[in-house]
Amino acid sequence: MAGSSLSFNLSNLRCNLAVLFCFICSCGVVMFSEADANYLTLDYYAKTCPKASEIIHSQMESAVSSDPRVGPRLLRMHFHDCFVQGCDGSVLLDDTETFKGEKTAGPNINSLHGFDVVDKIKSHLESECPGVVSCADLLALAAKDAVILAGGPYWDVPLGRKDSRSASLEKANTDIPLPNQGLITLISKFLAKGLSTTDMVALSGSHTIGVARCTSFRDRIYGDYQYTSKDGGELLRLKKMCPEKKNDENTTNLDHTTPTLFDNAYYGNLVKGEGLLNSDQELYSSIIGFQTVKLVKKYAEDSLIFFKHYSDSMVRMGNITNPHGGEVRNNCRVMN
Ligand code: HEM
Repeated sequence: MAGSSLSFNLSNLRCNLAVLFCFICSCGVVMFSEADANYLTLDYYAKTCPKASEIIHSQMESAVSSDPRVGPRLLRMHFHDCFVQGCDGSVLLDDTETFKGEKTAGPNINSLHGFDVVDKIKSHLESECPGVVSCADLLALAAKDAVILAGGPYWDVPLGRKDSRSASLEKANTDIPLPNQGLITLISKFLAKGLSTTDMVALSGSHTIGVARCTSFRDRIYGDYQYTSKDGGELLRLKKMCPEKKNDENTTNLDHTTPTLFDNAYYGNLVKGEGLLNSDQELYSSIIGFQTVKLVKKYAEDSLIFFKHYSDSMVRMGNITNPHGGEVRNNCRVMN
């Protein structure tokens, strides 16, 4: 990046290299504990709940048509589920007096929404086939539907995940990537889940839909946005809706060109220096982003390649399973 952002990146570099080193040291352990999804199958509910996918799809269709924010919300919820203990519905558990879940973790609090929609879909599944379809599978299928309903690619979702009997507030705070983290930290966090740099760049394309709060992108617009983008008008607009010291909860679209369409415009924005989050722009503007720059350019030029990589990467992310197994919850918010 140019100007002030260059020093930002250089100062981050040392810390990032340390993170990468730590990751390499712990790599073996992490891989074994989180990447074994051999038991997931495409026809898992063929006999026990053959209408499961159809029910989820039609529920998502009506939810998204009455509130288009639902799609991006559930897509992100699946991601935050998978990055903590694997895709096991841990993100859905409510806090109680004796149990602390993940909902109050930094990346989730005031930011993850749509739990009511999950409840509604789950109640339809329970009336069709009680105690059969896990909340973790519900999220994986709803995320795929969210993408399709916004015009994105289709993929077959391997199924058979179990819902956890635990959650980790600590891991939700440490493992989920943050918008102000540098490229090496972001890459390390994906590698730690068994996902490659290509997976990370492709999955970041999820930011072609949905919104971010002012508090998530303030550092970027009062930082290096001016050096990366030539469009002063867009920066002025962002600063107006997100002043330096107030309106933390104001939101704006992550992809300002085609905000509700699942397309490759997000990558075109990065090439123009107009990624909303620091973490988005890092993929194209980081001084160490040799591989990521190539991928961003490729996806900006060719939406079919982006769609292919995206669907493959979504399957890989969805295959991060919780090695401790679990149950099929009756209610996604509480353990049975
Ligand atoms: C590369 C690392 C990533 C970082 C640092 C990141 C960070 C963020 C942040 C800060 C927001 C805005 C939240 C808010 O302000 O309330 C956001 C929104 C979103 N993220 Fe990511 N994200 C990353 C990767 C992903 C992935 C892998 C997916 C899905 C597979 C995803 C899906 C979404 C979606 C759909 C939204 C919009 C949510 C909404 O409209 O409510 N993100 N992300």
